[in-house]
Amino acid sequence: MELKNDTLLKALLRQPVDRTPVWIMRQAGRYLPEYLKTRAEAGSFMNLCQSPELACEVTLQPLRRYDLDAAIIFSDILTIPDAMGLKLFFVTGEGPKFEHPIRSADDIRNLPRPQIDESLGYVMDAVALTRRELGGKVPLIGFSGSPWTLATYMIEGGSSKTFSKAKKLIYQDPQMAHMLLEKLAGTVTDYLNAQIESGAQAVQIFDTWGGALSSQAYKEFSLHYMAQIVSGLKRESEGRKVPVILFSKGCNTQLEALADTGCDALGVDWTITLDEARRRVGDRVALQGNLDPSILLAGKNVIRREVGYTLESFGQGDGHVFNLGHGITPDVDPEHLSALIGAVRELSPGYHS
Ligand code: CP3
Repeated sequence: MELKNDTLLKALLRQPVDRTPVWIMRQAGRYLPEYLKTRAEAGSFMNLCQSPELACEVTLQPLRRYDLDAAIIFSDILTIPDAMGLKLFFVTGEGPKFEHPIRSADDIRNLPRPQIDESLGYVMDAVALTRRELGGKVPLIGFSGSPWTLATYMIEGGSSKTFSKAKKLIYQDPQMAHMLLEKLAGTVTDYLNAQIESGAQAVQIFDTWGGALSSQAYKEFSLHYMAQIVSGLKRESEGRKVPVILFSKGCNTQLEALADTGCDALGVDWTITLDEARRRVGDRVALQGNLDPSILLAGKNVIRREVGYTLESFGQGDGHVFNLGHGITPDVDPEHLSALIGAVRELSPGYHS
């Protein structure tokens, strides 16, 4: 099936485009009433992830409302620890939890490297089904968490503000930390390659908690493993390049090092201007971002003005994918996202020749 809109793939590879493509992290989610309805029918978030039909349905929901340039497969980064036997569940208001978090060196030694096709086959089925249903309208993005970000949840047993258990492990017993991260890096590589083989046309690695680490620890415990994954990924499929995006939140001091991993694009958060990020990475990678998600809580005129500033900050030329600097929040009015996408459509052609 021919891809009718390849603006995203071209922009990620810094090829010429006539407008800036746009997609939104967490574009399928709780701010959409149709998502809440499907989740209620599914009974739980995990049922939604594990049913290929329902995961496909919620992946497509934002594309019915908005003129987006990509779909991102509906799933979660924590499917990997679940497949490794930690048993993921969600407590309303408290976020993700594991029945069997990592508590000892033996837990790390005994952690299996999952057979992706068996334990995560539901994700591959969702990718393949969604590709068919998209019918070439826009490309489908696959994703995974970074080894470090996955490790924080596995060691803390859920979300954390301080990451004290995970950080204690890297300082107290770096060898065990490396054993865990090595197992995760291998699994993430297999997982992303399986998504590419099932039809994902670009992939993103979410390193949401990279910013919790010191600069030195970041290089050793997060960046190193992302670089290893990038070099193990299948970079071409169906006769096209498969771009790889790294999103390390809170890591703008590391942009040069991230660009040196061999990835195609970097996701950037809102704490740096695209102008500065672009000067620092030069022509090595494309940039994706970076509107503060909270701007979507303000009025439509503010949203339009801020979209203009973001486009102006990147400036003339190719290699920019419009996105937020982190995921859209559940309190956003869906009409406000329409205003954002409309503004990108209207204002961005002026930045491309
Ligand atoms: O972008 C998309 O539309 C694809 C779907 C997607 C989800 N999670 C769905 C989801 C993606 C890409 C993720 C990634 C993810 N999951 C990350 C990295 C990105 C980021 O935002 O930093 C992280 C850290 C997770 C772990 C996770 N999953 C948490 C912390 C939570 C709870 C969030 C909360 O506010 O309660 C989840 C659950 C989750 N994943 C939801 C969605 C739509 C909400 C679950 C619900 O419907 O109640």
